[in-house]
Amino acid sequence: MKKTSTEKLIFELSSRGRKAYSLPEMDVPEVDPGEIIPEKMRRKEPAPLPEVSELDVIRHFTRISQMNHSVDQGFYPLGSCTMKYNPKINEDVSRLPGLTALHPQQPEETLQGALRLLHETEKFLCEISGMERFTFQPAAGAHGEFVGLSIIRAYHEHHGNHHKNKVIIPDSAHGTNPATAAMCGYETVEVKSDARGGVDLEDLAKIVDNEVAGLMLTNPNTLGLFDENIHRVAEMIHDVGGLLYYDGANANPILGISRPGDMGFDVVHFNLHKTFATPHGGGGPGSGPVGVKEDLVSFLPVPLVDFDGEKYSLNHDLPNTIGRVHSANGNFNVVIKTYAYILSMGAEGLKQVSHDAVLNANYLMEKLKGHYHLPYDRTCMHEFVLSGSKQKKLGVRTLDIAKRLIDFGVHPPTVYFPLIVDEALMIEPTETESRETLDYFIETMIHIAREVEENPEIIQEAPHFAPVGRLDEAQAARKPDLRWAGTGEE
Ligand SMILES: Cc1ncc(COP(=O)(O)O)c(C=O)c1O
Repeated sequence: MKKTSTEKLIFELSSRGRKAYSLPEMDVPEVDPGEIIPEKMRRKEPAPLPEVSELDVIRHFTRISQMNHSVDQGFYPLGSCTMKYNPKINEDVSRLPGLTALHPQQPEETLQGALRLLHETEKFLCEISGMERFTFQPAAGAHGEFVGLSIIRAYHEHHGNHHKNKVIIPDSAHGTNPATAAMCGYETVEVKSDARGGVDLEDLAKIVDNEVAGLMLTNPNTLGLFDENIHRVAEMIHDVGGLLYYDGANANPILGISRPGDMGFDVVHFNLHKTFATPHGGGGPGSGPVGVKEDLVSFLPVPLVDFDGEKYSLNHDLPNTIGRVHSANGNFNVVIKTYAYILSMGAEGLKQVSHDAVLNANYLMEKLKGHYHLPYDRTCMHEFVLSGSKQKKLGVRTLDIAKRLIDFGVHPPTVYFPLIVDEALMIEPTETESRETLDYFIETMIHIAREVEENPEIIQEAPHFAPVGRLDEAQAARKPDLRWAGTGEE
């Protein structure tokens, strides 16, 4: 069957001579390109660009933008990713010409506004986390982890702790934690989770020794559970001279309520592109600022932004710095959004964010636990993990349930993670969703649970209404086909 014009690729729409632009009359002398571009740099043939009208271009890009799910289009409960609605005003602020037209190499006295913004955002993050200073250089959470562990490593080397070669990581951890520890040259040692989903203290006691450089933990963890024994965990690590790293990717439920610094953590990263008003995913840019307690400040990347009461300056003079990890001060644009978001929310507003994120997650958990197995049945924080184990016995896998959700306009939750839950479905509703949206999701999940019993094929063959069916995700990642190579037809 012939494709309609709205189904065609932009190259297939091309028709010789069609244009999407009109230029004004030339008002400068025409120059022969041959005179100014050397022969070897000149095209032999015109570039094979699509020749399309403005309407073709608009329809094409509007159509492909709608083929993908986005948080502006529908519910996106992707656990551990905090896909909340990010107010557009923060985007507008981050595009103010006075900020976007700056160059980081300008003289400091002409950058005072930008430096103030960095300095004040740093103060906010210190207040929220209980840390002394922050660097904005890391471009993502994983980058922040690398910087944080590099600081821990530099600290131990500085203090002659060369025997410290292990980093302890819970079995529920995000994959970036062990990967980071390995990249920093550490042996990773796994600690088990206990029956309540927290760090198993007995197992930890068996592992902790003088060779431990530190422990990496996200709290609440990837099960969405707050570790009730965090002070004891911190004490056990500190007793052997180790340091605690806080993976702040799950900070959405603790804002203004509990601080990693008070829990006993020494180094922290936040994912500004989750918690603080920048969309997560979509290829960035992101920002994973790293904060440290006082005795680690001299190891931070340089420069830091200092303020002497009159002017802001870039301080390159940190005696033990691990050096630069990014140009300038990282992805400044993301920091602007964070600044605008924190100022517009205020302290009480941020606390409300966390209260609502926790309330929404517990509401969903309570309504769904009778229909799907809930392996850790206790009050959760901003997310919770169901297991599709009941449904698996009836021949329907968690992946099938995820694909079926797409038919109902819902982005699937994170699946098969954390690894310690069989057929995991990790659900994070976030604070920005309404009661109606949550109820729609509950109804849909219950409807799917019923379908598993009555009509499993419909789930096994889903999605039925998406622009594409099931993709070969491994091939899509390993052999991406990103270039139009022609249809072979005239
Ligand atoms: C718990 C946890 N830690 C670390 C990361 C890594 O963050 P990023 O994707 O910014 O590298 C993530 C990302 O989703 C996460 O969920």
